[in-house]
Amino acid sequence: MAIAVYGATGHTGRLVTAELLARGQQVILAGRGEERLRALAAELAAPDRVGVLTAPIDDAAALRRLCEQADALNHCAGPFTTTGAPVAAAAAEAGIPYVDHAIEPHPVKYLFDAFHATAERTGAVLIPQMSFYGGLGDLLAAAAAEGLPDVEKVTVGYAVTGWRMTRGAVNTANLLIGEIDRISYTDGAQHIGPVEIRNSVFPFPPPVGPRTTIVPFPSGEVVTVPRHVPTRAVEVQLTASTFEEEQIFSSVDASPEERARTRFTVAVQVVRSSGGGRNAHLVGHDIWRAGALASVEAVLRLTGGEGPRKAGVFSPAEAFPAVPLLNSLAEQGAFEVSLPGPS
Ligand SMILES: NC(=O)c1ccc[n+]([C@@H]2O[C@H](COP(=O)([O-])OP(=O)(O)OC[C@H]3O[C@@H](n4cnc5c(N)ncnc54)[C@H](OP(=O)(O)O)[C@@H]3O)[C@@H](O)[C@H]2O)c1
Repeated sequence: MAIAVYGATGHTGRLVTAELLARGQQVILAGRGEERLRALAAELAAPDRVGVLTAPIDDAAALRRLCEQADALNHCAGPFTTTGAPVAAAAAEAGIPYVDHAIEPHPVKYLFDAFHATAERTGAVLIPQMSFYGGLGDLLAAAAAEGLPDVEKVTVGYAVTGWRMTRGAVNTANLLIGEIDRISYTDGAQHIGPVEIRNSVFPFPPPVGPRTTIVPFPSGEVVTVPRHVPTRAVEVQLTASTFEEEQIFSSVDASPEERARTRFTVAVQVVRSSGGGRNAHLVGHDIWRAGALASVEAVLRLTGGEGPRKAGVFSPAEAFPAVPLLNSLAEQGAFEVSLPGPS
């Protein structure tokens, strides 16, 4: 069995590749730059388990060849606004499992809208944002809201320090920060249009505590959470201090060790319309590694026959029971998780 890593030369792609190799898998290093891919293959020094396939994003035939050779694909190249659709289309047509690291809500929505029918026909399972931002919020929301019939609002708060963006992350931020037509979920419906960007305060658990946040933070939970939580509203927030750190945008050449020094809390607050609600959170360091571990765990579960009973496009929490997956990632050291007890 071979897992394709598209965008293998990037920071995320390298972490995903290393984790797949550590877990005994065959890997096809894929992307647009033949030389960079070959250099990476030489660096990995595992010639019997590493192949290379060059497939530029605008070469549909090469992407098709890649998905015909691979048993599953982990898409790590971004911004997904640019790279998402062509790779997902090839995986959907080939009928193979696909996970990606998108954060942007629009490409996440597009995956559901454009490829569900194709995936149902071919037997593919596609899961967008199976990563840190988006994926962990989706899973935590499912865990916190489990069994609640009357949810008024799900708020996902990300508290992140020490985020040193890669070139891919900066390019994605450039697209998102000035975005006019945003996807939001309020009053029980999805809306697309201008929204007011404001500050709020999110009650992160100690030791972080209540922090000023940027709201809304454009992350795909606004698309995925309403698919499995019966809620009237979803909002995502990020600590304002994250973007105030001087080196966040200027660290595209940071070392992997510097990047690993992020600290994070992801917290979810579920408020019921009948009063009360639930909180859940996870804490850890190295957002990149947490995202890589989540995506690798998902892809290996899919190739091992776990996951949705039907083919199609699914959110992380639609594809896998949230609590066991979060606990398994915690056991692998991705983070520590604190889930609500039975109520
Ligand atoms: N949701 C999350 O929590 C999460 C977590 C991690 C990453 N991400 C997203 O994943 C993406 C990659 O992040 P990163 O940190 O790995 O960035 P990175 O280190 O800058 O790597 C970017 C990768 O994407 C490839 N790439 C960029 N544009 C491409 C294009 N037009 N066609 C084909 N390949 C292209 C690059 O290939 P070359 O080597 O050929 O330039 C490289 O392999 C970003 O969009 C980021 O937002 C999201």
